[in-house]
Amino acid sequence: MPAELPRIDLARDEDEVARAVDAACRSVGFFTVVGHGIDPGLQARMDTAARAFFARPEAEKAAIAMAHGGRAWRGWFPLHGELTSGVPDHKEGFYVGRELPPDDRPLHGPNLWPAEPADLRPAVTAWMDAVEGVAQRLARAIGIGLGLGADWFARHLTADPTVLFRIFRYPPVPPPAEGWGVAEHTDYGLLTLLAQDHRGGLQVRGPDGWIDVPPEPGALVVNLGDMLDRMTGGRYRSTPHRVVPTSGDDDRLSFPFFFDPSWDAEVRPLPLAGEAPPDDAATRWDGTSLRHLDGTYGAYLTAKVARVFPALAETATLPPTP
Ligand code: OGA
Ligand code: NI
Repeated sequence: MPAELPRIDLARDEDEVARAVDAACRSVGFFTVVGHGIDPGLQARMDTAARAFFARPEAEKAAIAMAHGGRAWRGWFPLHGELTSGVPDHKEGFYVGRELPPDDRPLHGPNLWPAEPADLRPAVTAWMDAVEGVAQRLARAIGIGLGLGADWFARHLTADPTVLFRIFRYPPVPPPAEGWGVAEHTDYGLLTLLAQDHRGGLQVRGPDGWIDVPPEPGALVVNLGDMLDRMTGGRYRSTPHRVVPTSGDDDRLSFPFFFDPSWDAEVRPLPLAGEAPPDDAATRWDGTSLRHLDGTYGAYLTAKVARVFPALAETATLPPTP
């Protein structure tokens, strides 16, 4: 694995992009994309609104805490309120998704928006729409790269994608900094498209050690989730990553967007040519195999999320886990 991530210009020809995406997915499982056409001012606008939100009084933020979002799994969580690999992360966050009615499926439903700043909602909504467009283009490229055809994902897996968006604030940790911004993990679904500010801190696990993902204005960091690894029999890699504690004197903000299979989609291995690599369960960060998962994406995600927010899982009405 190279010490630098592949950088893919989406403004190029679709087949050329598909080849580059395929190569990145088979090696690092991480790449950055530029030339995606998203208005550069939009991230700055969302960043400003998010910083203003996190600076609001605790009681105001608590009024839209995730507990009030119930099983829709939306809203604010306080510093150390989320666990990765059983360890509390040194981060505060805000969860949103598509705006849906309260009786929708679990992890779907109405968002919880703060009254202030008023611009958070329109800025985040515009960003989510724009990034979803990029995700759909990447899904086309992956369909081409896997030899399934450009429309395969949209037809079979992401007709009604599970879309979750998060904003994280990583406050600086004074030295000696212990723990993690986010502990080592892989993502659950298909594709994660992350925007970050200029502070850095995201690291990807390579065979020879951790690789820094350097911030680049306007670039999106893309990585693959466990479902894509599983469906491709490990040909495409969901690579472990983590966030080191923030140094310096200001907060780091990151904006991961998760583009995942439809809630009811059955997750099955794809009919792909060539030999699948050996199962890496023994060396995976969580010691589990991705090869034997089946059932719907919704059932799988529900079980995963319950581990990250144990208290919320107890209060929320969730369907039985597999
Ligand atoms: C995640 C993640 C990294 C970051 O949310 O899954 O890996 O930089 N985030 O916030
Ligand atoms: Ni992640």
